[in-house]
Amino acid sequence: MSHGLSTAHTIPSSWYTDARFLEREKERIFWHTWQPVGHAAKVASPGSYLAVEIAGEPCAIVRGNDGILRAFSNVCRHRASTILEGNGCAKSLRCPYHGWTYSLDGALLVAPEFEGVENWNRSDVRLPAMRVEEWGPFVFVNVDSQTPALSEVLGDIPNQVAALGCPVSKLHFSYRRDYMIRCNWKVYVDNYLEGYHLPAAHPSLFRELDYNEYRVDTFRYYSSQYAPIRPPRPGRDEARRYAAGDGDDRALYFWIFPNFMLNVYPDNLSSNIILPVGHDRTLTIFEWFTYPKGEETKDISPETVAFSDEIQQEDIRICENVQKGLASRSYDRGRYSVKRENGVHHFHCLMEEFMKGTA
Ligand code: FES
Ligand SMILES: [Fe+2]
Repeated sequence: MSHGLSTAHTIPSSWYTDARFLEREKERIFWHTWQPVGHAAKVASPGSYLAVEIAGEPCAIVRGNDGILRAFSNVCRHRASTILEGNGCAKSLRCPYHGWTYSLDGALLVAPEFEGVENWNRSDVRLPAMRVEEWGPFVFVNVDSQTPALSEVLGDIPNQVAALGCPVSKLHFSYRRDYMIRCNWKVYVDNYLEGYHLPAAHPSLFRELDYNEYRVDTFRYYSSQYAPIRPPRPGRDEARRYAAGDGDDRALYFWIFPNFMLNVYPDNLSSNIILPVGHDRTLTIFEWFTYPKGEETKDISPETVAFSDEIQQEDIRICENVQKGLASRSYDRGRYSVKRENGVHHFHCLMEEFMKGTA
């Protein structure tokens, strides 16, 4: 198991640079954890469906006529064509290759011209089920049937989000921005999990936050960051972006193992989903949701998106530099700041736990 933070080393650089390691991560991590795959609003009505991939594994999410949300393998049992594409609404699920048709709960209804096939019963054929759960605006799927329930993984997060006044079931999707980054997905996650790089790498963000109070708390499958906005100093902080001082400067930042982040503010919530595209290529999806205010719901402000984008560009530069360095023959492992990098260490301990016996 893991050593204490003060004696520990970071995970080996080969975990970030070896394409074969990503294949093992799919099997050990991405197909064994709750993966955020889309918006609950897209599969709200009976017959609505959403086709997604979980680390390359085709998955269909379908709302049944009984109102139950189900997830299946999106692979036809005949000759393995994928069945559904994109997002839509259907009465049944028809494979586009030879027209085998499945019910909304995954049972095979029709297999044209399949008489005379021996040792085969239409009624025995179904699309293999996966677990699916909803929380707030998100749908999560877990390919593995044995791992803890979503509620267990999220722990106290739903309570804390509710306590901040965020109505998760009423959020309005406002805006999405994607970034493709030339680094391993863990480089991006490592970077998200510490405030240690704020002074050197994010001067404008550093001015906004009370760095001395910055803190990372770790739990079983997630960590949270406490980053209070600094009160302005009279005469010196005209250029500050956040006014603070209006008393409502609370914010919550959560990272949920392995690749989901939630940033919760008094008037909006944003998520970051971190998807490995290759061992050295990562897609980060940023989405903003706003809260209903009385009758109307405002969209996220362009200033909020622009500030996030400025920080993200700074992080992208850092992450791409780190990926280059990790591939260097001169580097393998580093050490952690005890004061500032406990969140990175926590992530690495989870990596070691899930990858045990493979490396
Ligand atoms: S592969 Fe689906 S019907 Fe043939
Ligand atoms: Fe950063």
